[in-house]
Amino acid sequence: MKQKILLTGANRGLGLSLTKIYLSQGHEVFAIIRRVNEALHSLKNEYADQLKLHIGDVADEPSIEKAIRAIEKETDYIDMLINNAAVLFPADNVPIEQVDFSVYGATYDVNAVGPLRVVKYVLPLVRKGGGKRIVNISSEAGSITDSWRKSEYAYCMSKSALNMASSILQNYVLEDKIKVLAVHPGWFSSDMGTSAAPITPAESAVKVARLLEKSFTLQGPMYYDLEGKQMHW
Ligand SMILES: NC(=O)c1ccc[n+]([C@@H]2O[C@H](COP(=O)([O-])OP(=O)(O)OC[C@H]3O[C@@H](n4cnc5c(N)ncnc54)[C@H](OP(=O)(O)O)[C@@H]3O)[C@@H](O)[C@H]2O)c1
Repeated sequence: MKQKILLTGANRGLGLSLTKIYLSQGHEVFAIIRRVNEALHSLKNEYADQLKLHIGDVADEPSIEKAIRAIEKETDYIDMLINNAAVLFPADNVPIEQVDFSVYGATYDVNAVGPLRVVKYVLPLVRKGGGKRIVNISSEAGSITDSWRKSEYAYCMSKSALNMASSILQNYVLEDKIKVLAVHPGWFSSDMGTSAAPITPAESAVKVARLLEKSFTLQGPMYYDLEGKQMHW
């Protein structure tokens, strides 16, 4: 069945690959991005009716509210929200003795609070959709049980916080029968993942999209990797 999907950070990396998959499958994509780049311009040319582009910065609440008010004029419902936009600053990848804490606030603001800014305004649309799904693109970096890094505190802490946000949100939307998922999309090559990563964003997106086609029990596990394996919080 054709779905209406709202996705943040759709202009590059995983977000762009997911957008391409969903458009090619005939779904409608409402993309919230900070800027429209060449890749999105050409997708818009190819899928004029299916792709809706809206400018918004997940760290800036008024811009998110404005984008979603505009989306409300285009659709009465959203089947699935995918909170994908995130940052990992190079300054985060240094030993504790050299840390520049100025990147910490910005990382938390985008990665942990950003998805909630989107949820705040889009929830009424998700409640009215048939898909009833909110997906937070998390990371294995947010797992406390499986923690292995010796740096990147800000990014890892922000993803752990996003996992907690996912859990609280699930409690809140349970009665609406909305399923919240926190998904680790694997390590893939992108500006964030670097060229050292073993898979491409397109390969990750195929598996993430496949995972999101599955049905999940409302009160069951929430944190999965791209292969569908349950992760440890
Ligand atoms: N790459 C990996 O190996 C890996 C591994 C685990 C999890 N993840 C997660 O997967 C998701 C996608 O990662 P990626 O590697 O595709 O990242 P990426 O290539 O660095 O792209 C990040 C996307 O987020 C957008 N974004 C950043 N800050 C934003 C803001 N304030 N408001 C709106 N959009 C913003 C960027 O837009 P601009 O172009 O405007 O900056 C871009 O579209 C993230 O949640 C990431 O944490 C990635």
